[in-house]
Amino acid sequence: MDAPRIRPPRDPAAPLAGAIIVVGVAGGIAAYKACELVRLLTKAGAQVHVCMTRRAQKFVGPMTFQALTGHPVFTELFSLTEEATIGHIQLADRADLMIIAPATANAIARLAAGMSDDAVTTVALACTAPLLIAPSMNVNMWAHPLTRANVTRLTEVAGARVVGPDAGFLACRWTGPGRLAEPADIVEAAARILAPQDLAGKRVLVTAGPTHEAIDPARYLGNRSTGKMGYALAAAAARRGAEVVLVSGPVALEPPLGVEVIAVEDARAMRAAIDARVLAQDLIVMAAAVADFRPVAPSDRKLKRTEIGYTPTIALDSNPDILGEIGQARKARGAARPVLVGFAAETHDVVDYARAKLASKAVDMIVANDVTEAGAGFGTDTNRVVLVEPGGDTAIPAGTKAAVAHRILDRAVALL
Ligand code: CTP
Repeated sequence: MDAPRIRPPRDPAAPLAGAIIVVGVAGGIAAYKACELVRLLTKAGAQVHVCMTRRAQKFVGPMTFQALTGHPVFTELFSLTEEATIGHIQLADRADLMIIAPATANAIARLAAGMSDDAVTTVALACTAPLLIAPSMNVNMWAHPLTRANVTRLTEVAGARVVGPDAGFLACRWTGPGRLAEPADIVEAAARILAPQDLAGKRVLVTAGPTHEAIDPARYLGNRSTGKMGYALAAAAARRGAEVVLVSGPVALEPPLGVEVIAVEDARAMRAAIDARVLAQDLIVMAAAVADFRPVAPSDRKLKRTEIGYTPTIALDSNPDILGEIGQARKARGAARPVLVGFAAETHDVVDYARAKLASKAVDMIVANDVTEAGAGFGTDTNRVVLVEPGGDTAIPAGTKAAVAHRILDRAVALL
């Protein structure tokens, strides 16, 4: 018998790297989407093994999965050749995670009944690793009390996690919940199962994006922030188990899975959204590029060019320094919570300015970035930052905003 596998702690930035994941494909039309799921899991560094029910093979051939994973596909319980190459018990033993996608009503029912009459349910029953199911079926099948009871049995008795189903137009021509979760969301749900849950039970508020300060209904003062860093931080905190609220200025990004998004337009709306929640938070990360000034008297009707004149001046007023106010209020309370992290987007003397902000805003950490550097700052998918804290600076190597977000949270977890 093989020695038990030693499972090293996983990097929350890449929790699937090196993981052995068994994907069970049941027989539904969404089986074709399992190909994309397997591709994404492989891309994330996982070693993927696929098992399929006989009905699943009516939708996709095992050869497709074999080509995508580089491993033989387990399809027949009593096939001597398959058992000789993988061995379903060995596969179940070695897995770090099993995902059933699509999980049809039939597969869910058989598994909930403890049956093991095909390749998927057999591996699932023999597997001691966490189980993630991604249901996919007709709306009424999903809503049926028997399916509900079966899913509850899988979650409550067997500890299975569920991702989806999404609502939408289904292959059966019905509209409603029943569509397989997006493959990227299934991958993120898997990442959350394998990532360290060092923010479990913590409430985290993240701000992101620019603020738009109205001049009139058509025009605003804004800045170049796209919100990518803040969205990456919110997703990273959710992956590590936090309950996350994302207060977002106007951006063109999809909300991260399982994160509550509060959309705001300007700095004063952002402050109101934060003020209502500040005392409930364990950690606040202000990644938003809040406009420091706003037009004093925005017009409620669109200004005509002739009204504005050819050399217009716009009178400005100062916006509240949201982070500074929260930091000073916390100092006045003599409290250590919430832990406060700010950002400093600078073009010169980056660390010196960041250190000054650490003191003036009375916060625990300033993430300093030089927005003039290539591959860092506004709009890029990568970043390079220095974490400035009272005790010293930590330079974070350049990386994707997702990876940098996790390195920022590593420090925040230490402060919590
Ligand atoms: N911030 C804020 N409210 C503002 C401006 C900024 O809460 N009105 C927050 C930002 O979200 C960021 C940090 O404060 O976390 C630093 O913002 P920055 O604009 O760089 O700092 P300022 O104090 O405005 O300094 P300067 O513009 O002179 O660099």
